[in-house]
Amino acid sequence: MEGHKRPRVFVKFLAVFLFVTLILILYYNNIERTSSLSSTLFQHRPRPGRLKFLSTHVWSTNIPTNFTGKIVKERSGSDGNTRKHSVVKRKSFNYTFNYVETVNCKKMLKGNKPELDRAKSFLSNNYRNSISNTWYFVKTKNCDSFISERGYVTDSLTSEERDFPIAYSILMFKDVEQFERLLRAIYRPQNYYCIHVDAKAAEDVYNAVRGIVGCLDNVFMTRKYVDVQWGTFSVLEPELICMKMLFKYKNWKYFINLTGQEFPLKTNYELVKILETYNGANDMEGTVRRANKARWSIVGVSPPHNIRPVKGSVHIVVNRDFVDYVLNNKTAIDFLEWVKNVDVPDETYFSSLNHNPHLGIPGSYKGIPETTKDKKPFLARFKNWGREPFDWPCKGKRVRLICIFGVGDLPLLSRRKEMFANKFYLNFEPFALDCLEELHHNKTRDEYLGLVKFNTSYYQGLDFIKNKV
Ligand SMILES: *[C@@H]1O[C@H](CO)[C@@H](O)[C@H](O)[C@H]1NC(C)=O
Ligand SMILES: *[C@@H]1O[C@H](CO)[C@@H](O)[C@H](O)[C@H]1NC(C)=O
Ligand SMILES: *[C@@H]1O[C@H](CO)[C@@H](O)[C@H](O)[C@H]1NC(C)=O
Ligand SMILES: *[C@@H]1O[C@H](CO)[C@@H](O)[C@H](O)[C@H]1NC(C)=O
Ligand SMILES: *[C@@H]1O[C@H](CO)[C@@H](O)[C@H](O)[C@H]1NC(C)=O
Ligand SMILES: *[C@@H]1O[C@H](CO)[C@@H](O)[C@H](O)[C@H]1NC(C)=O
Repeated sequence: MEGHKRPRVFVKFLAVFLFVTLILILYYNNIERTSSLSSTLFQHRPRPGRLKFLSTHVWSTNIPTNFTGKIVKERSGSDGNTRKHSVVKRKSFNYTFNYVETVNCKKMLKGNKPELDRAKSFLSNNYRNSISNTWYFVKTKNCDSFISERGYVTDSLTSEERDFPIAYSILMFKDVEQFERLLRAIYRPQNYYCIHVDAKAAEDVYNAVRGIVGCLDNVFMTRKYVDVQWGTFSVLEPELICMKMLFKYKNWKYFINLTGQEFPLKTNYELVKILETYNGANDMEGTVRRANKARWSIVGVSPPHNIRPVKGSVHIVVNRDFVDYVLNNKTAIDFLEWVKNVDVPDETYFSSLNHNPHLGIPGSYKGIPETTKDKKPFLARFKNWGREPFDWPCKGKRVRLICIFGVGDLPLLSRRKEMFANKFYLNFEPFALDCLEELHHNKTRDEYLGLVKFNTSYYQGLDFIKNKV
């Protein structure tokens, strides 16, 4: 009967139509992904010679098309292995950010075990390339698009932040992407940034960094490049060069030094709140008890000006007057000459100045020069050496004692009171840095929008604030 046949033909036609539509959707979906290279951080890349809509993929960041990842048996399409380009649509906070979509950062930061396991298993089957130096070199030829696509915060956000500029030095020698993501996180137009690239760095590292620096008025490179050798004065030298360059800018309040392998645990707003609470106090590690005193005795003479040597670490948070003293006071300059002859001078110089209150250096500490977890914590850095007072379980991996943070460390990192964390490798569990970056972005946004408040009560009671010169 006619009335029976027609619907059957129609159903067949509909099935074919739906099938063709599905294939077209898959196909164009793929085309769109591969062609939006410049705005997509994480993407699928089709293996050459396969049909695009059924291809297998490497998991690869970014932008230049070199293909060194491991092939994984996974179909493209609706799984979440991409970081979608998205813009925060709120009127008042409109900075591009690539939220992590492969895994759920929020769950991982809370220590959700299934999500952490899922992330680990994904990471063990996938390899991610970094953004190439060439990409930075080319992309920074158009500064406006570089700044907006990378989501640099080009506004001071709050008047409190605007009136409290911070000066940074960053020492780096490789891993431009990691450096650039650190810079992006801490970047604000009112701050100052001095970048030292090691003399050993490759030419394309220089070119990439020069490109980035050329796009941001308040970021500059040193003119001299030091070949930094651990344990020698060459570690201290770039620091002093940067301090000198930064000191020319009159209005900043605090100086913080960083390496390219660190990342902030606090937003710029939170750093300002903490540093306001510090009220001029300097924050650095100090110890006499744990110091290797043979490093000092090799000099043969005792330090000038009755200075008692104190061991510190390579991270300091100091007020402007401290920097002034270091650069210009004769006592500091005399002491520097002595320090040049000790072993590992960078660990002795600043810490000794900060823990000899008879010198009267602003913000230095009058108490016993021993970093401890409770009485005199060291809040410039969260660093996990596996030894007291820096002993925490390491869920990443240890490289020469220090913990390279992995995804399993995220819950601990999100709770820490320190300003920055050290250290990350971009090629080791990159979600660790990705998720910390997402948290940092969200906090910046939500603090700006007044959705969350930052509680400074922990910082207010610190002994090195109460007991400062
Ligand atoms: C890609 O890798 C090859 C070989 O490793 C290299 O010769 C080429 O310059 C690279 N291209 C880019 C754009 O980095
Ligand atoms: C937000 O950013 C987008 C893309 O950069 C732009 O098109 C849009 O106009 C911006 N919106 C506001 C309110 O600034
Ligand atoms: C950050 O904000 C985005 C958008 O609101 C949300 O999807 C994401 O889960 C948040 N991430 C974290 C770590 O809070
Ligand atoms: C920070 O300053 C210290 C001074 O204690 C210096 O030795 C060190 O090299 C600097 N560290 C970084 C990461 O720049
Ligand atoms: C340098 O420091 C010493 C001791 O810390 C102090 O007595 C002296 O006044 C300072 N000199 C200058 C020029 O500030
Ligand atoms: C801030 O934190 C302290 C201690 O952690 C707590 O006692 C206090 O109630 C908090 N203040 C606010 C305003 O949340």
